[in-house]
Amino acid sequence: MRSIIITGATSGIGRELAIQYAAKGDKVGLIGRRTERLEELKAEIGELAYVRTLDVTDHERAEVVYRELIDEMGGMDVMVLNAGIGRIQMLPPWRAESKLIEVNSLAFAHGCHFAFDYFREKGGGQIVGMSSMASLLYNHRAAAYTASKHFISVYMTGFRQKARRIEADITITEIRAGYIWTEMTERAKGMFWVAPVEKAVRQMVKGIDKKKNYIYVTKRWRLLAWVVKCIPEWVWNRI
Ligand SMILES: NC(=O)c1ccc[n+]([C@@H]2O[C@H](COP(=O)([O-])OP(=O)(O)OC[C@H]3O[C@@H](n4cnc5c(N)ncnc54)[C@H](OP(=O)(O)O)[C@@H]3O)[C@@H](O)[C@H]2O)c1
Repeated sequence: MRSIIITGATSGIGRELAIQYAAKGDKVGLIGRRTERLEELKAEIGELAYVRTLDVTDHERAEVVYRELIDEMGGMDVMVLNAGIGRIQMLPPWRAESKLIEVNSLAFAHGCHFAFDYFREKGGGQIVGMSSMASLLYNHRAAAYTASKHFISVYMTGFRQKARRIEADITITEIRAGYIWTEMTERAKGMFWVAPVEKAVRQMVKGIDKKKNYIYVTKRWRLLAWVVKCIPEWVWNRI
């Protein structure tokens, strides 16, 4: 039985990860801002679920909450940094972008630091980052979101190198997800190859358990990733 902490567990991918891991018999520590959703999920999962309401951008409180959860769960083996937001329609453009960067990049980096230090002290563990196919793209319609996922990808590579250099048994797993049906994508247009969340998370769990460095979800996105990596910079500058 492992102990897995998941940020952004109140809906979509995080919620489904919690359900699938609990079904395998693992303990799941669930984090999000919506307390009632966390309580509902705890009622559904039962005693394997441990919940805490937290805004991951509050770094000081996050440290306390992560430690509380770890103590309550008797340790942590995997930390899934999944919390993220897309475009916030109600805010003026710059406020929306700075909020997105704060959640998707800064709070991600904070979680990654926390987990890395904890696992180094403990002697091993796994950090899973919810990146995206966007980490390989450049998109003027969603520059902040795309950049936030590039950040996650580059940051995780740095931590993977660091783990290797200091010979720490820490696996750094980046999930490059394509489109998945969740609350984040429910009003999005122009999507293709959209996967149901249950199927996408089943593939994520498989890859995480195999301790992969990169997981493409669903699998066919690996093909597109290969094509995208061949696109020269001058083409991106003309799109
Ligand atoms: N759906 C896709 O097609 C897709 C594709 C690639 C990557 N992703 C990534 O997958 C991750 C999950 O997205 P999703 O599709 O499952 O969307 P979602 O259903 O909207 O879930 C987002 C989760 O993040 C949490 N969250 C947002 N801001 C937070 C904050 N400040 N503090 C704590 N938790 C916060 C939300 O919880 P609260 O609102 O309760 O705080 C929610 O549980 C995101 O990082 C997203 O970028 C999604």
